[in-house]
Amino acid sequence: MEQYEVSQALLGGEAPMVHEVRGVIARSKGAPVELTTVVVPDPGPGEALVRVQACGVCHTDLHYREGGINDEFPFLLGHEAAGVVETVGPDVTSVAPGDYVVLNWRAVCGQCRSCRRGRPQYCFSTHNAVQKMTLVDGTVLAPALGIGAFAEMTLVAAGQCTRVDPRARPEAAGLLGCGVMAGLGASLFTGEVGLGDSVAVFGCGGVGCAAIAGAKLAGASSVIAVDIDPRKLELARQFGATHTVNSAEQDAVEAIRALTGGNGADVCVEAVGKPSVMEQAFYARDLAGTLVQVGVPSPEMRIDLPMIEFFGRGGRLKPSWYGDCLPSRDFPMLIDLYLNGRLDLDRFVSETIGLDEVEEAFHRMERGEVLRSVVVVSS
Ligand SMILES: NC(=O)c1ccc[n+]([C@@H]2O[C@H](COP(=O)([O-])OP(=O)(O)OC[C@H]3O[C@@H](n4cnc5c(N)ncnc54)[C@H](O)[C@@H]3O)[C@@H](O)[C@H]2O)c1
Ligand SMILES: [Zn+2]
Ligand SMILES: [Zn+2]
Repeated sequence: MEQYEVSQALLGGEAPMVHEVRGVIARSKGAPVELTTVVVPDPGPGEALVRVQACGVCHTDLHYREGGINDEFPFLLGHEAAGVVETVGPDVTSVAPGDYVVLNWRAVCGQCRSCRRGRPQYCFSTHNAVQKMTLVDGTVLAPALGIGAFAEMTLVAAGQCTRVDPRARPEAAGLLGCGVMAGLGASLFTGEVGLGDSVAVFGCGGVGCAAIAGAKLAGASSVIAVDIDPRKLELARQFGATHTVNSAEQDAVEAIRALTGGNGADVCVEAVGKPSVMEQAFYARDLAGTLVQVGVPSPEMRIDLPMIEFFGRGGRLKPSWYGDCLPSRDFPMLIDLYLNGRLDLDRFVSETIGLDEVEEAFHRMERGEVLRSVVVVSS
């Protein structure tokens, strides 16, 4: 990794420091990812430069690569990360160099109408670093979820850094940065799972297994895991599923009704991102039950529901972004649960890999072989 000053004459002002680091980019739709040199500026006002230690591979990175999120290629991928703050912008007081942090993709503004009403977890104006990371030729990179952490260093808004207990190893702690938090929060916060609830979770990847762990933490009496892959159903049991349903072999809605006294589940969590699964989760609810949508749909997806079914069942349909978490409140608390042995983050780490193995990790994800491949960037 190099550090140099860009010629002052070139910029016509004070020379900012930039860093050349290795990072993983998706250059164009569907093309294999590339490990290349990324230029990262020093932090300006409100920003923090973070030395990434570990970053999980999330399905959303693959969605970016496939053009399923937007067309702003090239992307700097990676967004489930933990690391150490290297430097901060002149006005930053919330974090300092040397702090061990988990990165989040919803730095709340504190000023929008949602924040002002005391609901910062729904902040309507979350923000990222203002300065851009680029390729060596100056091409601006779009960092995945405003993070871009498959890189030795990344530039984020200071509010995207949440300090946590440094005894938590980065491979595990970083996972709170996206998928695991999204799943835990889908049960704990969006679904408001309570003591004695019955819960069904559709899709038992990293996100779904976290939703299962969240339902268990919240005191659900039964947690039904639904997947088409028996390996995932086995993992779901390890995270606390009390029953499993292989929906490639049986009708998920009927199976869930049979397991809940003919009624359906109080809370159904969709953690796949497919219309057919969303419909199953809708119909598998008990009366007045809650459907939580966590799986990310692509723009062309549609579902068709008779309005009378929507009305007649009552209850709630709730999309869940990031598990409706508030990183400053939830990350330190969940890390404490991890360190106290109450939340098994280590079990999500199927393997650790290098920055040059992200493309292969996507294939392993597609083949269903892993919950999370975690890129270890530096120790
Ligand atoms: N809402 C959020 O804030 C948020 C955050 C992170 C990820 N996500 C999304 O959550 C979803 C899951 O992410 P992941 O990382 O766990 O992915 P994953 O690929 O690891 O897991 C998906 C699981 O769904 C299963 N599956 C596939 N088709 C199915 C079907 N028809 N019925 C039942 N199960 C089926 C697969 O076998 C797999 O176990 C993705 O869409 C991802 O983009 C959402
Ligand atoms: Zn806000
Ligand atoms: Zn993610």
